[in-house]
Amino acid sequence: MRIYCIECNSSVGIMDKVYTCPKCGGLLDVEYDYDVLAETVPKSWFSRPLGVWRYGELLPILNRTLRVSIGEGGTRLVHCRRLGEKLKLKNLYVKDEGSNPTGSFKDRGMTVGVTKALEFNVKNLICASTGNTSSSLAAYAAKAGLNCIVLIPSGKIALGKLAQAVIYGAKVLAVKGNFDDALRLVVELSSRPEFYLLNSLNPYRLEGQKTAAFEIYEQLGNRAPDWLIIPVGNAGNISAYWKGFEELSLLGLSNLKPKMIGVQSKGANPLVRAFKENRDPTPLTEVETIATAIRIGNPVNWRKAMKAVRKSNGLFEDVNDEDIVKAQRTLAKTEGIFTEPAGAAPIAYLIRHRDDDLIDRDEVVVCVATGNGLKDPDTAIRFSEKPVEVEADSRSILNYLRGLS
Ligand SMILES: Cc1ncc(COP(=O)(O)O)c(C=O)c1O
Ligand SMILES: [Zn+2]
Repeated sequence: MRIYCIECNSSVGIMDKVYTCPKCGGLLDVEYDYDVLAETVPKSWFSRPLGVWRYGELLPILNRTLRVSIGEGGTRLVHCRRLGEKLKLKNLYVKDEGSNPTGSFKDRGMTVGVTKALEFNVKNLICASTGNTSSSLAAYAAKAGLNCIVLIPSGKIALGKLAQAVIYGAKVLAVKGNFDDALRLVVELSSRPEFYLLNSLNPYRLEGQKTAAFEIYEQLGNRAPDWLIIPVGNAGNISAYWKGFEELSLLGLSNLKPKMIGVQSKGANPLVRAFKENRDPTPLTEVETIATAIRIGNPVNWRKAMKAVRKSNGLFEDVNDEDIVKAQRTLAKTEGIFTEPAGAAPIAYLIRHRDDDLIDRDEVVVCVATGNGLKDPDTAIRFSEKPVEVEADSRSILNYLRGLS
């Protein structure tokens, strides 16, 4: 196993507590001895339950006895036949990441990142968060018996996520600024030895998140999808999925790699703008969207994400808040999957762009529903029909229902 810089290729020691390259500031990544691993996997996986730790050989943990786990991964891959019919797609799937222990994909990363914190023997875990990172880190810190400090943009996080962070015992600080300000502060603080940073700048976290790609491959009967559509904020998750699919290919398990479509919100779309204009992204200082989880103007992982999208022959696209709310309801009403607004962005993309004819009717399409809808009940209620008050007798109920038809 080697930790290296994606810009200058210099190596970093596996026990060095750094988040970016000490030489050039580039993002870090982990590579394994794929030729050796190809001899043992996937046979070694079969005896283990579906989930992050099934893929232990491809995780950067030295001491597996320290593992901090609350049952992450192993989420459903739902074949969406009803929604697929509407969208003229025979093989539309949703990876329901909202069914992770704290209700989002972040748990895949935190189980690995917090285990790493134990290896480093650091007691104070810190992150900036649009919500889900704080919920997840708070739970894993609790399980590990470590302190958790989270910085959130003041007034801009969904209520359910805040409730989770406080009940798990995190110290929650509301920063008078946006997510990007909060992240800048935690990066500054985490250069001190007493803190360990668990944002997606942390390469170990992304190692955990890539396992969703392995699961999808297995759940589709040992094949990668043709398309993978995923919401993008800080751009760590799209990079992690791409890495997972690349590793399947390096292990000789799959020649096919999906084309990646990264979906941002129109109010927070730095990567879409950069992609369309074929340039590096410029940070956006004013960002706003109902999908608060992806309300990010300066995605730290943009280099990895841009590479993933370009190499895969995919694209970045944006959707507006109205489309997101509509897609959220459509997914819930046709498939029984309640995802938070950010998690509905890929479906919003499909609804809006189905007529582009980019995707063939028979191709295998996987949309990632990144977080659980109950995290943000306010938004769901605000845009839905309100309950109707009726008298407590069956005749008034029947009268009301007849009036509907
Ligand atoms: C529900 C949800 N979807 C998508 C994202 C975006 O993930 P990333 O920041 O890795 O691009 C987040 C990040 O907070 C999230 O919570
Ligand atoms: Zn470097």
